Amino acid sequence: MTDRYAVIGNPVAHSRSPDIHAAFARATAQDIEYLRLLAPLQGFAAAVESFRGADGRGASITVPFKEEAFRLSDALSDRARTAGAVNTLRFDPGRIYGDNTDGIGLVRDLTQNLGIAVAGRRVLLVGAGGAARGALGPLLDQNPASLVIANRTEMRAAELAVHFASAAAGALAALSFAALSGRQFDIVINATAASLAGEAPPLPGGLYAAAALAYDMMYAKHDTPFMALARAQGAQVADGLGMLVEQAAESFFVWRGVRPATGTVLEALRRAC
Ligand code: ATR
Repeated sequence: MTDRYAVIGNPVAHSRSPDIHAAFARATAQDIEYLRLLAPLQGFAAAVESFRGADGRGASITVPFKEEAFRLSDALSDRARTAGAVNTLRFDPGRIYGDNTDGIGLVRDLTQNLGIAVAGRRVLLVGAGGAARGALGPLLDQNPASLVIANRTEMRAAELAVHFASAAAGALAALSFAALSGRQFDIVINATAASLAGEAPPLPGGLYAAAALAYDMMYAKHDTPFMALARAQGAQVADGLGMLVEQAAESFFVWRGVRPATGTVLEALRRAC
């Protein structure tokens, strides 16, 4: 029988996950069906239960349910526990296993697809919500020279820095946007929701070191405002389409034990974007 998976979110109509997982399944000869499920804002747990009851084997979890998926999981991977959020559910016999593949997806896109080492670099992570939280552990695992978290609401950045301090060997700090003035970074990652609102986070100018990368976790046909501003300052830019494909590949591995190649899928999505 064909194993069933789904992406569950609200909204979910524009999710690229069904195309990505269908391509992975074809390439690895895995017999799966992958659906798009819109869960009511107050009905996430019920949607998961009903899909599980209908022979669902696992799910990708997207906005705004990643924290709820964390709470719903009976067992968690270390990286999901550290992130406090779950983007991948696997329905094992008698339990729901929760994992988080977002951070490793980001790191693989940076290091493998874009050829940008994180080790030894000065990294600025902008934002302190779920997306930033998911990225922090895997970024710190790469041993950056320093990692600064900056957020519009400075207190949230400070809380994240405290939460991850033990994983950071002293290289982690939280700053307000204004306090970034005069500093330079090799990699600046936008993990805020500003691009969704057609805005750029109000960062001071002069942040980008020579050959720096500005990475937006969002993806769009054209540069996001954050990318456009960075490009105007001489930075190289990338959007989050590669991260999307890499986190999906890792989720596929969590479900199927098979790791799909990502290059051709990413190229096809980029052409269709
Ligand atoms: P997600 O799970 O997508 O990270 P979230 O937890 O709601 O969503 O967090 C959204 C992040 O985007 C926060 O860091 C938020 O900043 P605040 O903590 O100050 O709210 C940030 N954000 C949203 N819109 C922004 C904007 N226009 N400029 C700068 N930061 C913005």
